[in-house]
Amino acid sequence: MSFASPQQRQAFIAGIPKAELHLHIEGSLEPEMMFALAQRNAVDIPFASADEVRKAYAFSNLQDFLDIYYQGMNVLRTEQDFYDLTMAYFKRIHADNAIHAEIFFDPQGHTGRGIAFSTAIDGILRAMDDAGSQLGITSQLIMCFLRHLSEEEAFATLEDAMPYLDRIAGVGLDSSELGHPPSKFSKVFAKAKTLGLKTVAHAGEEGPPEYIWEALDLLKIDRMDHGNRSLEDDGLIERLRDNQMALTVCPLSNLSLCVIDRLEDHPLKKMLDLGLCATMNSDDPSYFGGYLNDNYEATATALNLDKDHIVKLAKNSFRGSFLGEDAIEQSLQRIDDYVSEFDRKIG
Ligand code: ADE
Ligand code: ZN
Repeated sequence: MSFASPQQRQAFIAGIPKAELHLHIEGSLEPEMMFALAQRNAVDIPFASADEVRKAYAFSNLQDFLDIYYQGMNVLRTEQDFYDLTMAYFKRIHADNAIHAEIFFDPQGHTGRGIAFSTAIDGILRAMDDAGSQLGITSQLIMCFLRHLSEEEAFATLEDAMPYLDRIAGVGLDSSELGHPPSKFSKVFAKAKTLGLKTVAHAGEEGPPEYIWEALDLLKIDRMDHGNRSLEDDGLIERLRDNQMALTVCPLSNLSLCVIDRLEDHPLKKMLDLGLCATMNSDDPSYFGGYLNDNYEATATALNLDKDHIVKLAKNSFRGSFLGEDAIEQSLQRIDDYVSEFDRKIG
């Protein structure tokens, strides 16, 4: 069903209960917080104002962005910094009616510059606990390995994580995709699986369909991050549809990183129409110009998504989550209740 007006669609998007499954917590560092933390920790940053920082956020590919992203996280030094960063994200998505989030962090982005693994994760976990008790948002944590580093370094990071295994839902794979295929990490992913961790990987953001096959067959992932380039391979589409493998799609990120030229060219609607379990996510919202609802809104406008598409995306965000069956069922029911109430109000 289509909406009577853009305002009605906006209201529907704003209120629908949703989950976010692809969010790098370091990518939610807003320029204002970057400045505040730089001052608090006496860290030099090469910008004079938050506006100047925003102006620097013009990227022509993934690597362009990553260079600035790793530089930005340099202001994060203490447990309190990681807490403040994470809590600010939860407060922001609370306003978007997100009720669950599965967030990434990049421990090697911190240990590589002398910040202890425990400093980062303790702050993030404390904010996750407070988001649960203060905002009613449930969350899980996924630790990513940086794929431009070696598998040996990923193993060392997994070792750092051992004391926290009961608080980590899974491992992921991010950073520079081209030239760093999933096969480079097959042993460490196999080890993570034996520890009971879920596995996800960025694949097919810039990398070719072969990388997506490797993520499925060699890393045996439970969920795929991005996956845009699956559409180039009919065999992949069939595999992803048959398994109902969730794809964590990030439209504003794809636009910022020139994966697509225009939002109107984004493959999300096609993915849904093909029966793939696509979900909507923000990736690195402070760098890519929008949080979860901004992604829904901009994409719905560009692709003329109707109500069924929005409901599907919100439902997929729970179906593709690592929540238990009961929690998933309850969330789907909340969406059905929301839709009935919305329909009743607009008569
Ligand atoms: N790290 C943070 N955001 C990322 C992205 N979109 N792709 C790969 N690595 C990332
Ligand atoms: Zn990402």
